Amino acid sequence: MDEPKRILSGMQPTGRLHLGNYAGALVNWIRLQEEYQPFYTVVDWHSLTTTYDETERIREDTVEMFFDWLAAGIDPQRSTIFVQSMVPEHAELHLLLSMLITLGRLERNPTFKERVKDLELRGEVSYGHLGYPVLQAADILIYRAHAVPVGEDQIPHIELTRELARKFNTTYGEVFPEPETLLTTFARVPGIDGRKMSKSLGNHILMSDEPDRIAATVKEAITDPQKVYLKDPGRPEVCNVYAWHKIFNPEGEPTVAAECRSGDRGCVACKKEAAAAIADHFASFREERKRLEADRGGVLEIIREGTRRARDFASETMRRVRKTMNLFRLEA
Ligand code: TRP
Ligand code: SF4
Repeated sequence: MDEPKRILSGMQPTGRLHLGNYAGALVNWIRLQEEYQPFYTVVDWHSLTTTYDETERIREDTVEMFFDWLAAGIDPQRSTIFVQSMVPEHAELHLLLSMLITLGRLERNPTFKERVKDLELRGEVSYGHLGYPVLQAADILIYRAHAVPVGEDQIPHIELTRELARKFNTTYGEVFPEPETLLTTFARVPGIDGRKMSKSLGNHILMSDEPDRIAATVKEAITDPQKVYLKDPGRPEVCNVYAWHKIFNPEGEPTVAAECRSGDRGCVACKKEAAAAIADHFASFREERKRLEADRGGVLEIIREGTRRARDFASETMRRVRKTMNLFRLEA
């Protein structure tokens, strides 16, 4: 049988994951383990592009993320999990790739243009910022990944990665497959205010929140603003609580929708049910996470082992890269 195809994906170290991270990425990562050989990395260098002057929490945020990944079902036997900055070969490949792309191409990158808009206010557009997708390309290409599971917002970066792979292969010789985008099909998860769930907006529910905390947060959520009294018919399609029912209470969802529309369901009870469904969904996750927290040394050992595997692979790619580029070497 053929070797399974390799995939690589990364998340910035934002600490404990929320339901948006879970449904938008992690569920998919866990599922893909059955079919692919995954490399999953915490991209701490990428996080420096926005928070280079706030590094105190990166290390702990990284560990918190691994607790969530492992407790949710990332299996370190199947998936190589590691920290980007512990595999310095990414930086070497990033440097070499940076020769193969023009400034104009990077300035036209849509995610860069958006960032510039946000950051110009602070007068901070760094060299590292411009090169963000080149570093991302290095993350991917160094594992000669065949595919990259990401959300829609990352499509421009995968396209740029493919361009760099082609450019390298035609300039020096064939080393890199051109990776495909594996779009995460899951729905966007709204926060309690209806905007996309995000920690910086403070509208989130964490995977690791305790049931009483989940209930308190769900209670604050905006529902259909036109439904004021219990007997008012509601519109589930505009309601954030309903969006969560769809994801975390799929069996109950048709009843929720029907009763909401007919005015047979009040928002207070509906929120209680949604909160209970979310808490239930993550019950065994919370247990497993506590077990892992009590065995921090074991988790660090898993990270060490993943990093070793990643480094072995990355080193082999870099040997091929240097050789193909005719860079100096001493062995005959
Ligand atoms: N840019 C990605 C994001 O913001 C994170 C990332 C870095 C990544 N390197 C990667 C994703 C490589 C996929 C593959 O979500
Ligand atoms: Fe939303 Fe439920 Fe209220 Fe309908 S009854 S508006 S689905 S919270």
